[in-house]
Amino acid sequence: MDRDRAQPALLSPPLPYGQSLAFALRSGMEAEEALDRIVEVFRPDSTLLGIGEPLLRNCSRIVPGLSTFPSLSGPGFSIPSTQEALWILVLGKNRTDIFDRTAGILSLLDRSFLLRDAMETFTYDGGKDLTGYIDGTENPPVSERPAVALLPGERGMAGSSFVAVQRWEHDLGRFRSRPAKEQDMIIGRQKKTNEEIPDAPPSAHVRRSAQDSFSPPATMFRRSMPWARGDHQGLEFIAFAHSLSAFDRILRRMAGLEDGIPDALFSFSRPVTGGYYWCPPLWEGRVDFSWLG
Ligand code: HEM
Repeated sequence: MDRDRAQPALLSPPLPYGQSLAFALRSGMEAEEALDRIVEVFRPDSTLLGIGEPLLRNCSRIVPGLSTFPSLSGPGFSIPSTQEALWILVLGKNRTDIFDRTAGILSLLDRSFLLRDAMETFTYDGGKDLTGYIDGTENPPVSERPAVALLPGERGMAGSSFVAVQRWEHDLGRFRSRPAKEQDMIIGRQKKTNEEIPDAPPSAHVRRSAQDSFSPPATMFRRSMPWARGDHQGLEFIAFAHSLSAFDRILRRMAGLEDGIPDALFSFSRPVTGGYYWCPPLWEGRVDFSWLG
């Protein structure tokens, strides 16, 4: 089964703490050594990892469907691409786990990779975004997640996945200064009941992102986590799919590139990072890079 080959943390219940790490390949580094290091670093219970186009372009075989994160512009905002070679999400039950695990990863990777970005993440109030809205309601049911998130195919490809990782920074003061009804219209759901608002404006986030309104449906499995550092905070958006086109199409519509209507999320939040990665499958419990030759 494809799901037995997937990195376990992709489909298992979420752990409450995380750290999102992005790495560049060190200059002159051979892909083979870099891939060996990644295999060494992987722990099934506490790591989710994906490789980006800058590393794949150094390998002898491509992964069809993987591209570099696009950089886009909308009216008054930009959507940056900060594509890196490797992304690792460290997961743990507490911050001690995260600290120890991250230290181990950094020392193992140091020869091949350069740490470019690190952000601690956490579960807020049982699975809400920092705005107070439940995040993940329209995720596919558990039984459908493997079909949504995992690629089929032969050994080396079956059980792999694509992930979109995009950090958003919220201006929470601005959001909270709006009356409750306006906040609900930005999201398109009622904060109190989580009910969808049928007459929400087309700019409402759930109307921009309604998966079934795309043809074919733009279905994905979202596992985003909030982050907070000093007086900056937001959402580390993390979504898995068997094709990046689901994410691409929703993001373009959110930016207003389809019909000129940008997502109301942009009225208080902005993306500050963006990367696409291929999450390799496992074989006998180890990361399987056999696809790359
Ligand atoms: C500031 C960043 C974001 C926040 C705070 C946010 C929050 C939310 C919330 C509260 C919901 C409604 C409940 C749910 O179904 O989960 C939702 C739905 C959704 N979001 Fe986001 N989101 C963000 C960015 C994104 C991005 C970048 C994408 C993809 C490009 C996305 C895709 C979706 C999808 C597919 C749904 C379900 C829509 C449906 O089919 O009804 N979100 N989001």
